[in-house]
Amino acid sequence: MTKQALVIGATGNVGRHVVSQLHHQGVPVRALSRGVRAADLPPGVEPFAADVTDAAALAAALHRVDRVFLVWRGRPVPVAEPVVAAIAGAATHLTLLSSAVVRDDGPQPDAIAELHAGLEGLVTATDLEWTFLRPAQFATNTLEWAAQLRLGDEVRGAYGDAPTTVVHERDIAAVAVQAMTGHHHGRRYVLTGPEIHTPAGLVAVIGEVLGRDLRWVEDSVEDERRRMLGWMPAAFVDVVLAGRARARQEGPLHTTTVQDVLGVPARTYREWVKDHAADLA
Ligand SMILES: NC(=O)c1ccc[n+]([C@@H]2O[C@H](COP(=O)([O-])OP(=O)(O)OC[C@H]3O[C@@H](n4cnc5c(N)ncnc54)[C@H](OP(=O)(O)O)[C@@H]3O)[C@@H](O)[C@H]2O)c1
Repeated sequence: MTKQALVIGATGNVGRHVVSQLHHQGVPVRALSRGVRAADLPPGVEPFAADVTDAAALAAALHRVDRVFLVWRGRPVPVAEPVVAAIAGAATHLTLLSSAVVRDDGPQPDAIAELHAGLEGLVTATDLEWTFLRPAQFATNTLEWAAQLRLGDEVRGAYGDAPTTVVHERDIAAVAVQAMTGHHHGRRYVLTGPEIHTPAGLVAVIGEVLGRDLRWVEDSVEDERRRMLGWMPAAFVDVVLAGRARARQEGPLHTTTVQDVLGVPARTYREWVKDHAADLA
């Protein structure tokens, strides 16, 4: 019987593309999230609605699965321990969506890095073959500006001059698919977009693509913090703001890993805006 790939977090920014790209390559896919419905998936992909921390449901989801893609959302590392153990008991390879903030050479810089380093540690302690994807900021984070763009031509925020190398979620997914279908065991892939931008520069690109005269307005960190609290868990807001301040001091994180793995150039932010023009308008 052919084995399946299990995508956990199958309806998210990255997971949905992992599902569709695996399916496109002819890999049988089971797609797990709490709210997944067949209508959200390409025809032929098996929906599996469950909470990944439900041990019985996860055991059923892992039936006849040999490789797994895992997105872990925010919950503490100990909650992930039985999840990783169950995957290790059933599958041979795990591709973990981690983060570029993880450090291999010293203490973790913040709580997000600690979480992802903890998850990676759970995986390396098993017999699983693994590939860690460590993306920089997702281009999808800039969808947070959509509400402001609907009200006018200004985008307000702090650290408008901080370097950023936002990466397209389709590229993260494409590297995941390579990891799940090729030989990438033991690799820690730091994934960035192909260009170095700033938030103010990203807004200019949106304006060019949408044909609008948009401008960045620098706000105080306190105002930005208040705005972010409207959509981001409080525990992460200060971590994200500190990360932006750090990027100004340390300079951009920039790799060619997407192109190295895929053999084609990483998608630009301009391409991302074209893909999401309807979401930003
Ligand atoms: N944003 C960035 O800049 C960035 C950068 C580097 C790394 N990351 C990491 O990337 C990950 C987020 O990826 P993403 O943006 O693709 O996620 P996302 O869009 O928030 O999607 C999360 C997916 O997981 C599912 N899910 C959440 N809780 C679940 C549970 N308990 N059981 C089963 N499924 C569950 C969600 O669907 P349901 O709600 O239906 O369950 C959804 O399919 C995080 O680990 C983050 O730290 C993010």
